[in-house]
Amino acid sequence: MRVLVIGSGAREHALVLALSRDPAVTALACAPGNAGVAGHAEIAGVDVADAAAVAALAQEWKADLVVVGPEQPLVAGAADAVRAAGIPCFGPSKQAACIEGSKAFAKDVMNSAGVPTAHSEIVDNPARLDAALARFGPTWVVKDDGLAAGKGVVVTRDSATARAHAMTLLDGGHPVLLESFLDGPEVSLFCLTDGTTVVPLLPAQDFKRVGDGDNGPNTGGMGAYSPLPWAADDLVDDIVTRCVQPVVDELAARGTPFTGLLYAGLALTSDGPEVIEFNCRFGDPETQSVLTLLRTPLAGLLLAVATGRLAEHPPLEWEDGYAVTVVIAAEGYPGRPRTGDVITGTEAEGVLHAATRRREDGAVVSTGGRVLSVVGTGADLAAAREAAYERVSTVHLTGSHHRTDIALRAAAGEVAAPSAN
Ligand code: AMP
Ligand code: GLY
Repeated sequence: MRVLVIGSGAREHALVLALSRDPAVTALACAPGNAGVAGHAEIAGVDVADAAAVAALAQEWKADLVVVGPEQPLVAGAADAVRAAGIPCFGPSKQAACIEGSKAFAKDVMNSAGVPTAHSEIVDNPARLDAALARFGPTWVVKDDGLAAGKGVVVTRDSATARAHAMTLLDGGHPVLLESFLDGPEVSLFCLTDGTTVVPLLPAQDFKRVGDGDNGPNTGGMGAYSPLPWAADDLVDDIVTRCVQPVVDELAARGTPFTGLLYAGLALTSDGPEVIEFNCRFGDPETQSVLTLLRTPLAGLLLAVATGRLAEHPPLEWEDGYAVTVVIAAEGYPGRPRTGDVITGTEAEGVLHAATRRREDGAVVSTGGRVLSVVGTGADLAAAREAAYERVSTVHLTGSHHRTDIALRAAAGEVAAPSAN
């Protein structure tokens, strides 16, 4: 099977590595890829936002399966274009991808499907902002109603900060979504679905804030671990039954079935799991942890999803133990990152590349904010943390920063789901 992966982050590096372990894969390509992916796949150039260009590349390269990593190409219709060219594609249609691309659409689907989620209001007129803010708080959740790579959300106890973020969005012409605050540990559950059958992967937790102790602004994700030693045995089944299967069924009933990976981001509240967001693709950096533990050959699994045969696929198999991922970010991230610096120590096992490129002289240099994802595994979370941080210590990038507390509280037994009301 010839598999083409679209995207250029550490998530795509993790996808490429897992695909390369599948004996059914005879050729692997990644577009546009990065310096790390280049060691395991052919690299092709493509504008991922150009659906026709993605489909043309898939045809030209004679792909048997296209796996789309990021949300931008999916929201732009890349999966539709690839399927229209007669090639199986892992990823939802443009319409189904609106579950991530439009928070208002996601809320509408969840409300129709009876899925527990935060109460919300859309504000598109500054004159109505103050009255709307008064109906929320004292912790305010202010979101951009569109794709914002995890950075369009402000969660704050300060009303002036909430108002200022909402005004910035409105001034930029973006409708604002206000939400009630969901309190409780967060869980990311990735579910494979062919539009009918739902198969969950191991649950994970990611760390969105830039600084230790969950301080500082939201980012695309600074680290993750999987699975969750503190979760109840029935947590995954409960989330699938209450939150994921109803959304899959609702989208199918609307004539826009979702195929690919449906990512449920949830808070475990005292009323049970409630959805914070759905994403239309593998999460980054959770994927780097989750796929490290997957023993089932990935290409066959993703092809079963893409061709509507997920129900026939054997149950998934996983390695024992845990995986911890630590993101190394460039100076300045999540603001404007410093780029163009030489990175050393990137050849080690478990070092996945995101924003990297190989210079003509052979050096690996940084090209963006989240530069590397470093993955460690172990029999328990403490051992996996140790392995990951040991590898982090061997990487050098001037000015870079990373969190030192990824999975720390979970390893110490300090994370717990609240008991039911
Ligand atoms: P989103 O872009 O919707 O994924 O939000 C980014 C992050 O903001 C989430 O991972 C949460 O940590 C936080 N967040 C978003 N919405 C809520 C909410 N309603 N209640 C609590 N935290 C939230
Ligand atoms: N880990 C957050 C995301 O992928 O959106």
